[in-house]
Amino acid sequence: MARPRFVNSFLSAARRVGIRPGPPSLRVHILLWTLLPLVVFLLGLSFTDVYGHQQAMKVMVEERDRSLAQAVAGRIADGLGYHARLLADLGSDPALLGTGSDEPARALAQPSAPFEGLVAFDRQGQVRATGGDGNAWAQAGFAVSLAAAAGGSARPAYLARAEGGLAPYHLAIAVPLSDGGALVGVLPLASTGVPVGAEGLLASAQAYGRVLDEQGVPIYEAGVPARGTPAADSVVTTVVPVPGTDWHVELSEPWHSLVPLVLRYAQATVLIAAAAVLIALASMVVGVRYVSGPLAALGQQAQRVAWGDFEAVGRSVGGVEEIASLQRALQQMAAQVRSYQAAMRGYVGAITRGQEEERLRLARELHDDTVQSLIALGQRMERLQKSCAREGDGCAAQLGELRQSLRSLVHDVRRLIADLRPTGLDELGLEPALEMLVGRLPASYHAAFTVEGTPRRLGLDLELALYRIAQEALKNVEQHSGASHVDVRLSFEEQGVRLVVADDGAGFAAPSTPDDLARSGHFGLLGMRERAVLAGGSLRLSSVPGRGTRVEAYLPSRR
Ligand SMILES: Nc1ncnc2c1ncn2[C@@H]1O[C@H](COP(=O)(O)OP(=O)(O)O)[C@@H](O)[C@H]1O
Ligand SMILES: [Mg+2]
Repeated sequence: MARPRFVNSFLSAARRVGIRPGPPSLRVHILLWTLLPLVVFLLGLSFTDVYGHQQAMKVMVEERDRSLAQAVAGRIADGLGYHARLLADLGSDPALLGTGSDEPARALAQPSAPFEGLVAFDRQGQVRATGGDGNAWAQAGFAVSLAAAAGGSARPAYLARAEGGLAPYHLAIAVPLSDGGALVGVLPLASTGVPVGAEGLLASAQAYGRVLDEQGVPIYEAGVPARGTPAADSVVTTVVPVPGTDWHVELSEPWHSLVPLVLRYAQATVLIAAAAVLIALASMVVGVRYVSGPLAALGQQAQRVAWGDFEAVGRSVGGVEEIASLQRALQQMAAQVRSYQAAMRGYVGAITRGQEEERLRLARELHDDTVQSLIALGQRMERLQKSCAREGDGCAAQLGELRQSLRSLVHDVRRLIADLRPTGLDELGLEPALEMLVGRLPASYHAAFTVEGTPRRLGLDLELALYRIAQEALKNVEQHSGASHVDVRLSFEEQGVRLVVADDGAGFAAPSTPDDLARSGHFGLLGMRERAVLAGGSLRLSSVPGRGTRVEAYLPSRR
């Protein structure tokens, strides 16, 4: 897969400044795998914690503002109520309620402070008396409508809006009179206690407080309103009614600014946690790519080395540095085992050659000396038997028996010689030698010998090796198989020669390598394999109990 060009230029730039992008070491992986989940967990924990704290903080600010607003509303209600009662006292003066035409005017002539002016209305809304500045606004709209509002009701009416002729920053109060009329008084707002109560709002530096009348028009403001347009949930607003009126105290506070900086960015922790999860996932993918995958590949290579395939460990499996060094160690081990094996093979080869030479020497000695002497002995006995026959006693018959046993002795020795050094192998070649070998098997085995391909001379070493393998395999057939058919096949192939010895006998649970048999003292099959390997070939054994045994040797011919 081709890398995008920008990745290549990035990598070469990194290489130029000495950064070599390579698989990170196992230590880095472990760090990432264990540390990252922990970080994610802690972040999650702190996020829920921070969020909980924020909510608690908001509730706390709300509750504090509510009780503050309630206290302010109480103070304002006290101030208003006090002045309403003051007015009601004046209104209870019997002079004001008398029937004489100048009596009421006298009652209000000296209006008591802090009222700047007073006006009394009768139940028909007619001005009955005025006092102070009341003369000036007795017919003003605000006075008339306020008196009308209070006249029929049981509670005082208040007005602080500068409308209907009421001067700014003034408060008008109307209280009902016992005869169904109303008394209206006007006084400066500053002396009512409204501003003093509202000042209390300023006690909290961040809060912005307002006193609103029944129409929602602000009568008084305190504090600094939040700048700009703050997010709806970042400001806590509390509205509390002023008892005995239709007024309200409103308090708003940006609670977010009260929250410590660390607690304020709870949302950001979600992003951080998400990033941490992504990094953890990426590191896991890298882990599979650079650690577990290469480890599995290395495991397979090690297994193949155990089976003798030393080349297997040569291919790089990649992965982190630790795995690369493990592979290097494995390669060194394989090389060492291989050279040890080569030395052993050399040694075994030397022993095998020595053995064959010794057998050759023995065979020659037996053939040249022993057999010749035995033949000479036989000839002398023959002559002796002839002269004895003429004398006619029983010694000729005895000599005949002796000659017979001498002949069988010569036969046995010849067979021994043949075993030691296969007759005909040197002169005639492998094919007739094997045919003779197979022919020597008892008839009960129904042995068959077939040749495939065009027979050719292979060189004495190779022919001897094949002969010895066949000899050993047939010995096993005789000793262990109890077979009723034996098939020996010699195939001359293009690159080499194949020898198969198969029987239909008892069979056995063949081990995966002959080395296992050697451990329990059976060296026949091991010797066959060593001969094949020494000649550059291989030996395969297959056997199933009850289904016979098959030994196949393949030896490449010399180039
Ligand atoms: N053709 C065969 N049929 C049945 N068993 C066999 C045959 N060849 C070998 N075996 C089994 O394999 C074992 C190992 O054979 P080998 O290595 O030649 O050692 P040995 O012949 O000295 O026992 C034998 O003991 C026998 O149990
Ligand atoms: Mg054997």
